[in-house]
Amino acid sequence: MKNLHVPAICVHEPGGPEKLLLEEIAVPVPEKDQVLIKIVAAGVNPIDWKTREGLMHYPLPYIPGVEAAGVVMAVGESVFGKKVGDEVYGAIDGAYATCAVAQSELLFRKPAIWSFEEAAAAGGAKTAWGALFDVGELKKGQRILIHGAAGGVGHFAVQLAYHVGAYIIATASEANMDFVASLGANEVIDYKTVPFETAVQEVDMVLDTVGGDTTDRSLSVIKPGGVLLCLVQYPDSAKADEAGVNVAWGGTKTLVAMREAHKLLEKGLIKPYVKKVFHGLYSAAEAQEFSKYGGPGRGRIVLRVSDDR
Ligand SMILES: NC(=O)c1ccc[n+]([C@@H]2O[C@H](COP(=O)([O-])OP(=O)(O)OC[C@H]3O[C@@H](n4cnc5c(N)ncnc54)[C@H](OP(=O)(O)O)[C@@H]3O)[C@@H](O)[C@H]2O)c1
Repeated sequence: MKNLHVPAICVHEPGGPEKLLLEEIAVPVPEKDQVLIKIVAAGVNPIDWKTREGLMHYPLPYIPGVEAAGVVMAVGESVFGKKVGDEVYGAIDGAYATCAVAQSELLFRKPAIWSFEEAAAAGGAKTAWGALFDVGELKKGQRILIHGAAGGVGHFAVQLAYHVGAYIIATASEANMDFVASLGANEVIDYKTVPFETAVQEVDMVLDTVGGDTTDRSLSVIKPGGVLLCLVQYPDSAKADEAGVNVAWGGTKTLVAMREAHKLLEKGLIKPYVKKVFHGLYSAAEAQEFSKYGGPGRGRIVLRVSDDR
């Protein structure tokens, strides 16, 4: 594949959606522990537009995208257990491209019953698993409040908390309340009409996937000694101390979290939901704007990169 060039989205400087440029890149060559993947569908995460706008530090230039599903095109010499033609999904940096390389251990076999879009939407499972279990050590019978429960991370958090036997209170907008209840939430609060602090008390844990004033407001509903799991920002530390709440960063992304999430996904105990599919790399800007401004739906936004599978 030497000298072959393929389409990819490139960002050379931070800014608005117009900074997502469709260019040609040389097909990357996998290192010994890497796999070259033909990308079929890429997950579109909030982190993608935040990075593009320069809110997260990232070396320039870069190709956006952090997770995807596709087909193995080549494997490095020390890769074990993956071969050309395998359908895989997982953590793939530079996923807004026709092909990309990734560490073999971060890729998992795509369950045959899933579409590529569903597989590309599965990345929130590892984030939710890591926050709830690696960091929060959530257990059966504990009460948890999950904010943003219809989102790419939140919809997995509800399923995982249900799976472990927790009592789940969740926030979502009205259109998504039935969906979140169907995933296992015991109570769902419409965050647009009900201030959640008036409806929830004494939880053991809050998973905050929302940020803004939701973070500090969450302190008042957690038992002293309980935990605020943060995925977006930390609360005011003085307020957290006053409330007697333990604060922890929820974003771990460990290999253990990926493997445990994959086991549950593979067994069908949790499943990915696709919010909306955008077709073609040239739709990347539209997809990121939809992500930034919170378009309707539930689950993860997906960019369909290739249409031949
Ligand atoms: N630190 C990490 O490792 C890590 C990893 C992944 C994600 N994140 C961050 O976590 C956040 C969520 O990610 P995501 O992928 O789940 O985002 P997403 O798919 O865009 O979902 C966001 C959800 O938030 C809900 N929402 C918006 N305002 C709300 C409010 N005031 N109260 C309750 N819910 C509200 C929306 O619900 P409705 O549609 O029902 O209105 C939507 O379902 C992002 O900021 C992302 O950057 C961090």
